[in-house]
Amino acid sequence: MLLTVLLFVVLVAGKGAFFRSENGHWVFGNDHWSVTQGPTHAKPLTYRGKELTGRGAGHYMGMNAKSTLKWTSAGIARKGTNFIDVKLTAAEGSLHWVIFDDLHGAYQYFVNGGLPALGEFRGLWRLDNRTFTHGATAGKEGALPRLPDYARAKKVQDETWEKADGSYITKYDWAGFLREQDVFGVYGEGVGSWFIHAGKDYFNGNHLKQELMIHRESNSGDTVQLNMIHGTHFQATTSDNFPKGKTWGPWLWYLNSGSRADATARAKKELASWPYTWHTDAAYQARGTVRGILTLSDGRPAAGAAVFLGDDRPKQTALGMGSNYYYTGYADATGAFEFKHVRVGTYGLQAWANGGKIGDVPGAIELDSVSVAAGKVTDLGSRVWKVRGKGTVFRVGEFDRKAVGFRYAGGPYQHGLSAKCPATLTWTAGTSKASDWCFAQAAPGSWKVVFEIGDRPANATGAAVLTVSLAGYSGSATTVLVNGKTVGGFSNKNLSSDPGTYRSATTAGEWHQMEYKLEAGALRRGQNVVEFKMTEATRWHGVMWDAVMLEWL
Ligand SMILES: *[C@@H]1O[C@H](CO)[C@@H](O)[C@H](O)[C@H]1NC(C)=O
Ligand SMILES: *[C@@H]1O[C@H](CO)[C@@H](O)[C@H](O)[C@H]1NC(C)=O
Ligand SMILES: *[C@@H]1O[C@H](CO)[C@@H](O)[C@H](O)[C@H]1NC(C)=O
Repeated sequence: MLLTVLLFVVLVAGKGAFFRSENGHWVFGNDHWSVTQGPTHAKPLTYRGKELTGRGAGHYMGMNAKSTLKWTSAGIARKGTNFIDVKLTAAEGSLHWVIFDDLHGAYQYFVNGGLPALGEFRGLWRLDNRTFTHGATAGKEGALPRLPDYARAKKVQDETWEKADGSYITKYDWAGFLREQDVFGVYGEGVGSWFIHAGKDYFNGNHLKQELMIHRESNSGDTVQLNMIHGTHFQATTSDNFPKGKTWGPWLWYLNSGSRADATARAKKELASWPYTWHTDAAYQARGTVRGILTLSDGRPAAGAAVFLGDDRPKQTALGMGSNYYYTGYADATGAFEFKHVRVGTYGLQAWANGGKIGDVPGAIELDSVSVAAGKVTDLGSRVWKVRGKGTVFRVGEFDRKAVGFRYAGGPYQHGLSAKCPATLTWTAGTSKASDWCFAQAAPGSWKVVFEIGDRPANATGAAVLTVSLAGYSGSATTVLVNGKTVGGFSNKNLSSDPGTYRSATTAGEWHQMEYKLEAGALRRGQNVVEFKMTEATRWHGVMWDAVMLEWL
């Protein structure tokens, strides 16, 4: 009788989180799951009695696609009342698995020790493709392509295959905007494996940072659940140095029965408890608030502006930054914004129009030396964002660094969509709509804006400025002409190319903005024409449009 009771207690209470060395490997987990960690890869992984890696490579961390971190030691770094913090040490830094007694999964974080300057740094699970047949991101859900389908298709560019019916298979169709992901992962047959990043301040880039999330590994057939904590798949040039101690995470690796709804509910809970109180690291806990109000110099509130807290006196674009910690948000209808839980430090603030009521405002406002102190509010007060305001002659689209509003823009990632846009197009101010302009120009040809000029405003000089804002640019050459005369152009010589346009993006790649000044006399009364003549563009390369505007000076 006593024995039965004891046995019952042991079974119900379980052993909780554990770590041990075994045959030159490290084994850790809790009553729900366990994994065997070797010098680089962790596998097998068992969850509720089922092995989940199969012929997949398991869990590992790697830099720049090829080099895998090698763990030289492992042990329990910290013990709480209901968790252990398992630390794996490599020359580049340490990966921690925080294992709570009753958690289905683990929190993970990485502390930089000596990472080289790099573009890509990620952890990943390569799982059993018989179990994990499906995937989900914030923007896409469904069956992953099957390896045998690749074999029957023709490779047409990096990780992209054309099927006999003319459609494409590519991992880039499974990309997403990183900061819009509540949860992403892979699932099937009664089990799901998910990543939930409640805090996102350790990612590189801004609101428009995109990354790969999940895919079928085209070499092996593994189901891949990526965790691109630093990446460049949709960016021009990003190689960052990291200060010692820079910490990515903690994020949650979450296991469940495969229910996305359950994973989403879990993500809500994580968000509500971020920053995590159990992660007692002093620098992680030291955070403050930044707030302020942005008003345009013409008196309008900077309604809905995208607001970004990044490097102070930046040397890189907002999307290109990646060494430190970054915060993204939006102003409300009155131009007011607030960032909570900002790590202590000195930041540079930037804001730019996100369409809507201020969709006619190009460029950005930048504020230097925004200091954040622990437990304090940094109130920037009311700041004026200077705009020109002499009057607009025409505008195609809204300034928001995105192609949204134009034909085919803003949908799920889809390879080859730019091929649907025409080589020649004429847009007429006053009658054409934004949707008559196409999201991408990706073939040699000419796109024209036709517009009428009547009396100019009394306060205007007669000179004008043509603002050309690109949501993305990949290797191509364009000449800009006004009434048949060249006023400028852009090509690889003066813009850095990003892969967005040819990697399935429908919204953005990397933003560029050019201004072409037109002297008085360049425009005439009556009909005028601005022309974008694409002289060179290889297949699927070109520009993704944000907005074009002609203003009086
Ligand atoms: C799973 O991987 C194996 C190789 O390990 C491969 O032969 C098979 O086609 C893959 N299955 C799918 C559905 O892609
Ligand atoms: C210039 O004149 C236009 C049209 O009369 C007016 O809307 C605008 O506010 C003026 N801008 C400035 C900067 O004075
Ligand atoms: C950029 O390159 C284009 C085409 O090569 C050229 O026409 C243009 O003048 C250049 N612009 C600048 C600002 O250098």
